[in-house]
This record gives sequence, structure tokens and C-alpha cells, in this order.
Amino acid sequence: MEIRDATAADAAGIAEIYNDAVLTTTASFDIEPKSPEDRMKWLLARSPAHPVLIAEIDGAIAGWGALSPYSERPAYAATAELSVYVAAPHRSQGVGRALTCALVERGRRAALHVLLARICTENEASIAMVRSLGFTDAGTMHQVGWKFERWLDVATWEYDLDTPRVDTSCSGDTLT
Ligand SMILES: CC(C)(COP(=O)(O)OP(=O)(O)OC[C@H]1O[C@@H](n2cnc3c(N)ncnc32)[C@H](O)[C@@H]1OP(=O)(O)O)[C@@H](O)C(=O)NCCC(=O)NCCS
Repeated sequence: MEIRDATAADAAGIAEIYNDAVLTTTASFDIEPKSPEDRMKWLLARSPAHPVLIAEIDGAIAGWGALSPYSERPAYAATAELSVYVAAPHRSQGVGRALTCALVERGRRAALHVLLARICTENEASIAMVRSLGFTDAGTMHQVGWKFERWLDVATWEYDLDTPRVDTSCSGDTLT
């Protein structure tokens, strides 16, 4: 597996993986699929502190992850939001972990201070993943989402990039 920065040519692959999650899961609170053109604009609007990374296996996109601004308000500038989406056939093979570790490292290099992951409380895989990488539970908002005809709770998981951690699962070799 190679972890690399996304390019405009990845827009369709990113959209395909994201749209599967939009239409079939509560991982995203989007309801409608995103077009490749929309994802292209999204990619081209990134700043260096807010990368989109691709996990590539045998030349195909197995997953992607991003750091996005948490808020436009300037006092939040050192806080970013983490998103990771892995194509269904590639889940549970270490792709999500590798992308998250690479994004943690990129956040550090960009002098970000805190990463946040907002995760629907029914998304057990995502919660287990961020917990195992050292994110801590910063609290739950109740019934803030409505999708698939039900109210959804969202927990915020936080990661302090400036607190040294011994975390062998995030060391080195997946980083670009
Ligand atoms: C959540 C997601 C990103 C995890 O990526 P992945 O590549 O499948 O996960 P990995 O194989 O890297 O596993 C990392 C850890 O996640 C947890 N995990 C992964 N799949 C899991 C599952 N089905 N059930 C419980 N825990 C799971 C485990 O703690 C695992 O560590 P371990 O292998 O040491 O047990 C992936 O399942 C996914 O894309 N899901 C749909 C979209 C989504 O939920 N995105 C997150 C939005 S916030």
C-alpha cells in the first residue's frame, strides 16, 4: 500500500468511495451523492495544512482521508477535522489506520494543534479505530442528525498533536 497526496485525477475515485458511504451508512451526514466535479473543486480548494491523502493498492484507490478546517473562525485555525473513507472491499486490512496515522503526521508537520473526529455513535468501526490510535472521547451530542428515518447521536473524538505519545501503530513506514 502506498499513501500519497491526492491529485485532481483522484476526484472520481474519491467520489465513488464517499458516495457509497453517503448512500449506505451513517458515517457521513451527507444525504445526496457528490459528483466528481464537486470533489474536484473540493480538492483544488485545499490548503497545505489540510491535505487529502490517497491509499493506493495495486494502482487502485483503496481509501482516502482528509484534514479539513474545523471552523472558519480564526481562533480555531490550529484545529482540523479528520475524515477517513475506505472502499468496502478493502476494509479491515489496515488501510484506515494507515491513512489516519499519515494524517496525524501531516497535521503535526503543519503545526496544527488538535484533530477532531466527529463520529456517529453507531459507527463502531470508526470509533474503535480512532480510540485505538489514541483519540479520546470529548463528548456526545444527542439527536443532532436525521438520516435513514432516525435521529443520530454524534460523538467528538479529539487528538492533541503536541502531546508526545508512545504509539507504535502510528510509527513511520506508512508516511510519505
Ligand atoms: C472506519 C473505517 C475508516 C476503518 O478503516 P479500515 O481500513 O476498515 O480499518 P483498519 O483495518 O485500518 O482497522 C483499524 C482499527 O479499526 C477498528 N476496526 C476496523 N474495522 C472494524 C470493525 N468492522 N469493527 C470494529 N472495529 C473495527 C479496529 O480497532 C482496527 O484495529 P485492529 O485491526 O488492530 O483491531 C472503514 O471501516 C470505513 O471506511 N468505514 C465507512 C466510512 C466511515 O465510517 N468513515 C469514518 C467516518 S468518521
